[in-house]
Amino acid sequence: MIEKINKYLEETKEFAATTIDEIESFRIKYMGKKGFINDLFSEFKNVPRENKKLVGQKLNELKISIQEKINALKENLEDKTESRSEIDLSLPGDSLKLGSRHPISIVRNEIIDIFKRLGFTVSEGPEIEDDWHVFSALNFPEEHPARDMQDTFFIETNPDILLRTHTSSVQVRVMENSNPPIRTISPGRVFRNEAISARAHCIFHQVEGLYIDENVSFADLKQTLLYFAKEMFGEKTEIRLRPSYFPFTEPSAEMDVACNICGGKGCNVCKYTGWLEILGCGMVDPNVLESSGIDSNKYTGFAFGMGIERITMLKYGVKDLRLYFENDVRFLNQFKSAL
Ligand code: PHE
Repeated sequence: MIEKINKYLEETKEFAATTIDEIESFRIKYMGKKGFINDLFSEFKNVPRENKKLVGQKLNELKISIQEKINALKENLEDKTESRSEIDLSLPGDSLKLGSRHPISIVRNEIIDIFKRLGFTVSEGPEIEDDWHVFSALNFPEEHPARDMQDTFFIETNPDILLRTHTSSVQVRVMENSNPPIRTISPGRVFRNEAISARAHCIFHQVEGLYIDENVSFADLKQTLLYFAKEMFGEKTEIRLRPSYFPFTEPSAEMDVACNICGGKGCNVCKYTGWLEILGCGMVDPNVLESSGIDSNKYTGFAFGMGIERITMLKYGVKDLRLYFENDVRFLNQFKSAL
């Protein structure tokens, strides 16, 4: 009987098949009800007791080997038919859906481009700041009510650490670390403790600018901002400056551009004034220069700061600030062509 088993082992191992029918008849021949394996098991009853263990083991080995053979043959066949009929290699591939830049990034890059053409460099700094760089170095006296102009997020356990409320903090770092002439803009994310609405958000983005050199005047500031407004909103754009107050600039102003929606005639976007406020600016207060180690008798400078959300709103007619943060693709897709 052992001989028979060995013979079957050999011939089944060598067996090859190319169709499912061939595999099926192979299975029936060996594993079917009336197949060789069942025959062998019937014969097994007559094997003398002392040989039973050895023959039993051999028999099981054969059975397992045949089953594995059948499985392998089937798998092989499936692989082949799949590659032949289910994948059509001549079909075009799936096209990848490309995203688009966020409107805030588009406008930030545009602002940076405009000021780069005037020779400004880009500087960045930390979002988590200390009191010195956000307030004290910028001429906000301690306990001064001007600190309330910007509702601040503080760290409860250490009021010296806070989230920056403007990127003027980056400019303090630049003034501390370099000598005039300084011509830099600092784009970045800022934080204020404001209730979220269509017109306000607790996270937004700014670009602030700083220019320090000998003989920098208010006329330089005005001309720089006029150039910016024309590049951003069109050649015909008019600007006006209104007196204002910031602790770090003196004199200070806010700049309006003629409403580009109604052309200055008055509409609900400009609240029927014909003007839209877009930024704060002024001549750097001598105290600020001195705090950062710059000689205020030798140097003067101007600074300005604007909200990117606001500029984007005016440029693209976005009516609700919250849209910038919701990542609704129907909103974002509209800016594809603006890249
Ligand atoms: N830092 C001011 C703000 O965040 C803007 C500003 C910058 C005003 C520079 C004047 C000069 O509101």
